[in-house]
Amino acid sequence: MNRLKDKVAIVTGGAQGIGKGITEKFAKEGATVIIWDVKTEKAHTVAHTLRAQGCKAEAMEGVDITLLASVEQAAQAIVEKHGRIDILINNAGIVRDASFLKMTSEHWDQVIGVNLTGVFNCTKAVVPVMVAQQYGKIVSLSSTAGVYGNFGQTNYVAAKAGVAGMTKTWGRELGRYGINANAIAPGPIQTDMLATVPEELIQQMKGRIPVKRLGQPEDIANVALFLCSEEASFVTGQTLVVDGGTMLGG
Ligand SMILES: NC(=O)c1ccc[n+]([C@@H]2O[C@H](COP(=O)([O-])OP(=O)(O)OC[C@H]3O[C@@H](n4cnc5c(N)ncnc54)[C@H](O)[C@@H]3O)[C@@H](O)[C@H]2O)c1
Repeated sequence: MNRLKDKVAIVTGGAQGIGKGITEKFAKEGATVIIWDVKTEKAHTVAHTLRAQGCKAEAMEGVDITLLASVEQAAQAIVEKHGRIDILINNAGIVRDASFLKMTSEHWDQVIGVNLTGVFNCTKAVVPVMVAQQYGKIVSLSSTAGVYGNFGQTNYVAAKAGVAGMTKTWGRELGRYGINANAIAPGPIQTDMLATVPEELIQQMKGRIPVKRLGQPEDIANVALFLCSEEASFVTGQTLVVDGGTMLGG
């Protein structure tokens, strides 16, 4: 129950879905968790509920990960208050799906802005702190779409493949500073992001998942916890597929 005792963790997009699941899991494992999310009210509710359970959690006001200045300021404020940043979970993400023929440059810019540049910005703001500590764990959310491609998701696939690529480079560059950088590529997880998918398609998806259920935020939180634990200290630069076997095909 105390695997992250005294660790200071940032979770982007922690107001709901997978990010909320990771926030809850990490706070219950003893970390001080700080949520960066544009949905400020929801983020405050998550943090408040955890504090009521005796955990350490905070939500910072309206941190927008698409803006480097916003995350640099927020990282600085955390260092001033808590003295360190041990863990960064790059989880915030959006979708703007359209087939390639219908995809606009606005769709492209929005998804790349949050899902790729956002990950760059947060990591850029936090890594100097981790280098100074000679310790850090970075886990970024990719997607099976980034590994295999997906119909209607040129923008999302480009960003998620980019996250896996950046993670390999960070594995190579940051290991010498005591920093592990990994990614998780989830299959379909039951969150608001999936709420836009028609029920018929969800049923088809379920049929193709060997474990015969959709993933839950906790399935991803468990893997994130492992990657941030000392048991995973020899794992870096990897993207772990967590999809109930979906991509095994057949
Ligand atoms: N749900 C799935 O099936 C699935 C599958 C594969 C990968 N993923 C990835 O997992 C991550 C979490 O997905 P989810 O399903 O929980 O999504 P979600 O839509 O439920 O939550 C995403 C959160 O990110 C926040 N956010 C969006 N833009 C932001 C910004 N500019 N700055 C700060 N916060 C911002 C939102 O406010 C929201 O709280 C995403 O990166 C997503 O691409 C999800």
